[in-house]
Amino acid sequence: MTDWLPLICPSVAYDDLAGDFRAIADSGRLTQGPYLRRFEESVGAFAGVRFACATTSATTALHLALAACGIGAGDEVLVSDFTFPATGNAIAQAGATPVLVDSCPDGFVMDVDDAATKITERTKAIMVVDPFGQPADLGRVLDLARAHDLRVIEDAACALGSYRDGRPCGGWPDIGVYSFHPRKIITTGEGGMLTTDDEVIARRVEILRNHGSVAKDGGRRFEEFGFNYRMNEFQAAMGLRQMARLEAIVADRRRTARRYIDLLAPLDGVAVPLSAPLTDCNFQSFVVVLDGQVDRAAVIEHLKARSIESTLGTYAMHAHPAYGRLGYRPGQLARSFFLQDNTLTLPLLPAMDEFQMQRVVDGLKEALA
Ligand SMILES: Cc1ncc(COP(=O)(O)O)c(C=O)c1O
Repeated sequence: MTDWLPLICPSVAYDDLAGDFRAIADSGRLTQGPYLRRFEESVGAFAGVRFACATTSATTALHLALAACGIGAGDEVLVSDFTFPATGNAIAQAGATPVLVDSCPDGFVMDVDDAATKITERTKAIMVVDPFGQPADLGRVLDLARAHDLRVIEDAACALGSYRDGRPCGGWPDIGVYSFHPRKIITTGEGGMLTTDDEVIARRVEILRNHGSVAKDGGRRFEEFGFNYRMNEFQAAMGLRQMARLEAIVADRRRTARRYIDLLAPLDGVAVPLSAPLTDCNFQSFVVVLDGQVDRAAVIEHLKARSIESTLGTYAMHAHPAYGRLGYRPGQLARSFFLQDNTLTLPLLPAMDEFQMQRVVDGLKEALA
């Protein structure tokens, strides 16, 4: 029982990459070339949108989304509180104010009723997260946004391969964002992608990610104070190889999640909330909720002693000092705060076998006894 079960195990097809990397090096076109275009086309087609723009990360894609919508100083953006803080940070970096929205009573996703109470004259957008690849209630978010003339930016960083009501996460109006960090469904080391059907936004994003410039008379004309948020060709080649296997990667994660759920069902003190049918979730992470009286740190230590890596789910942004500066105090968003302290991520590895899953569940059972 010494085999270490890690949390991160990227599904990169290394075998094929050597040829791609050599071709890129030989071509001399190391960035913004044909691999990037094909990767963008592949992700855009999967999401069912007309435009996809690769970036250096999901964080920079979120920043571009806000900039392209003209959101900045003086504006407010409603945002899911229970998320990796990159989501809210992008709003602050754009100069706007993140207004934090609690999680729904029975799961991880945004409470749309709470969001409705927080709309003011300054609200310009809703940035809604699909936590761990679980789809938010995107239809209701969109209805709320349309009723108040707000933009919707879906932080689908974790949700490539998930669906809501038959539509791919990241493919909903107005803008979707994916991450290709190593913990995500596919990885380019670091990287992100912005998706949209809105041609005006797509063109603006292309300009802003490339120093605010457009091609002109054999050179470039600088129209805006833009950024360098460009993905290189090597990253795009990695992403493209994995896109070809995306369906298989997600199907494998669902199979494991289904079995985990069965194995965990008899355990007291552990719940597995799902925001949508299992077949609509990609299980980017497999996250359980422990009863409030369970000592999570002791559980993590117990699993570690059995060579099983585990960690918290994600963060309640409002409880962190950066957001304290906006006037929030820990516990103010009660459900998100509870989830920060009581969620646990378990290993979900590619092609995970019954023995490995049983080890994790047995370890958890012992820890909870
Ligand atoms: C919901 C969410 N949004 C954004 C990010 C940031 O992604 P990236 O590392 O690609 O910037 C993460 C990363 O974990 C995330 O989980």
